[in-house]
Amino acid sequence: LGGGRLSGRRIVMTSGPTHEPIDPVRYIANRSSGAQGNAIGRALADLGAEVVFVTGPAAVPPPLGVQVHRVETAREMRAAVLAALPADAAIFAAAVADWRVTHESASKLKKTAGTLPALAFEENPDILAEIAQLDSGRPRLVVGFAAETDDVIANATAKRARKGCDWILANDVSPATGIMGGTENAVTLITAEGSETWDRAGKDAVAARLAHRLADALEAE
Ligand code: C5P
Repeated sequence: LGGGRLSGRRIVMTSGPTHEPIDPVRYIANRSSGAQGNAIGRALADLGAEVVFVTGPAAVPPPLGVQVHRVETAREMRAAVLAALPADAAIFAAAVADWRVTHESASKLKKTAGTLPALAFEENPDILAEIAQLDSGRPRLVVGFAAETDDVIANATAKRARKGCDWILANDVSPATGIMGGTENAVTLITAEGSETWDRAGKDAVAARLAHRLADALEAE
C-alpha cells in the first residue's frame, strides 16, 4: 500500500452498460458484463491509484479499492464523470447506449393487440469525445475502447482520431472470438505512434498491462 507506481494519481473511469428507460419496466442497453472494466479498476487500485469508478448497472459487483459511483443512464454517467474531474487520466470502458428514448413514459406502456409502440430516439452524449476534447481540465491521458467486428485496426485508428483521445484499446468482438462475456481479451493498443497487438490473455492480465502502460506514460511527462 502507498508504494504503487500510480500512487498519488487520480484516475476516472467508466464501466458497465447504461440503461436508457422506455417506461418503468423497460429499457434499451448494450451488452456488457463489466468484467473488463472491473479488472481495470482493480489493476489501477493495485498500483495505488485513487480510482473513481463510474459504473452503470453491471452484472458483476464492482471491485474493492475504488470509489464507486453508480449511475443508470448515459446522461447520469456523463454528469458523474464531469463531477469527478480533475484527474490525471480517464479510461472509458463503459458500453454506453448510443441512443435514448426521447419520451420516457411515466407509466408502463400497455400491450394492445394489433398496435406497436412508436418509439422516438435521440442521441446520447459521447462522454469519451467530450472529455478528450475539453479545452480546460482535460486529463493528460484519455483512453477509450473500440469493440469492432471487422477491420479492427483501421476502424479503431479512425475512432481515435474522431474522438480526440490519446489511446484506443481495440478488441475484436466477433462472436467466434468468445471475448464478449468471456474471461479473456485480445486487444490492439492504438496510440499516436501506431498500433501494437497484445497477446490474447485473461482480462486481469490485459488490465494489469494497461495499468503499467499508463504509469509509464504518466511518469514520462
Ligand atoms: O463510439 P463507440 O461507442 O464505438 O466508442 C466506444 C468508446 O467510446 C468506448 O470507450 C466508450 O466507453 C466510449 N463512449 C462514451 N460515450 C458514448 C459512447 C461511447 O464514452 N456515448
